[in-house]
Amino acid sequence: MGDGAGTRVRAFAAAKINLYLHVVDRRPDGYHELDSLVVFADLGDVVTARPAAGLHLAIEGPAAPALAGEPVESNLVHRAARALAAACGRAPEVALTLTKVLPVASGIGGGSADAAACLRALARLWGLAADDPSPMAVARRLGADVPVCLAGRAAYLGGVGDRLAPAPALPVVHAVLVNPGQPLPTPAVFAARSGPFSAPARFAAAPADAATLASWLAARRNDLTDPARRLAPVIGTVLAALEHTQGCLLARLSGSGATCFGLYAEAAAAARAAADLGAAHPDWWVQRCRLIADAARLDGAPVAAPAGA
Ligand code: C5P
Repeated sequence: MGDGAGTRVRAFAAAKINLYLHVVDRRPDGYHELDSLVVFADLGDVVTARPAAGLHLAIEGPAAPALAGEPVESNLVHRAARALAAACGRAPEVALTLTKVLPVASGIGGGSADAAACLRALARLWGLAADDPSPMAVARRLGADVPVCLAGRAAYLGGVGDRLAPAPALPVVHAVLVNPGQPLPTPAVFAARSGPFSAPARFAAAPADAATLASWLAARRNDLTDPARRLAPVIGTVLAALEHTQGCLLARLSGSGATCFGLYAEAAAAARAAADLGAAHPDWWVQRCRLIADAARLDGAPVAAPAGA
């Protein structure tokens, strides 16, 4: 699969969800040590890449307008392409498209997932060996959530989010994601956190079903919930609304917010909850999805670019 003209590769930038997130320490450099269980949703952005003269990034899709104000060169996808090309000693000659579905600055890793998808797409387009360390080295420099998104598999996060350990097998779980439309920059949420730290709380076994998973998560927290709620009080309204939907096993904030998720054992319950929440709050972004362990599997195989594309 090398750089043949006409080759276009597609990679899926799945939303990441922190099922729990404990802040276990603060490092002298200001970053926080975490213990978190991250899974993915079968819902996300899409990055495509094809050979071109020079580096181009087009951003489209329903959430693209939120990025219209920033220079395209500062987008994490553009930065990922430049950094991987430099690491591989080649020119970044590629036309990228980012189809933006996930709300920006929303705690479900949109920008990190996009950067990771770009790295996976370019690794395939440029024929990098599966064990080439460059994509992961670049991912670590781009942001704390980029490595787990690059790996594309459910994982426990340690360190500042860059130390990955395999997640236990997880049952089939359905979810509703709700974002109230207020961007929440991650640094501000960490800066607003105060109080004691939490202990790591990894599971001792694999949860047998969705109800067991929810009961184990109920004994854990997202330690960024209180600071995020102080900055965006609407998060409290979102969590209460999710908790009141029929069949909701648990409602929590993801990452630094403001996206919240509800967990459901049945697809029909998630569908009904999403429909009801969307009708009651037309200004909220409401999506139902399924939680998945293997997001990289949803990357598309190379496809021939349409003539003239
Ligand atoms: O690495 P990333 O760009 O995603 O992090 C954004 C900001 O969030 C960091 O600059 C830092 O303020 C905060 N952060 C943190 N501890 C982490 C991850 C992020 O304090 N583990």
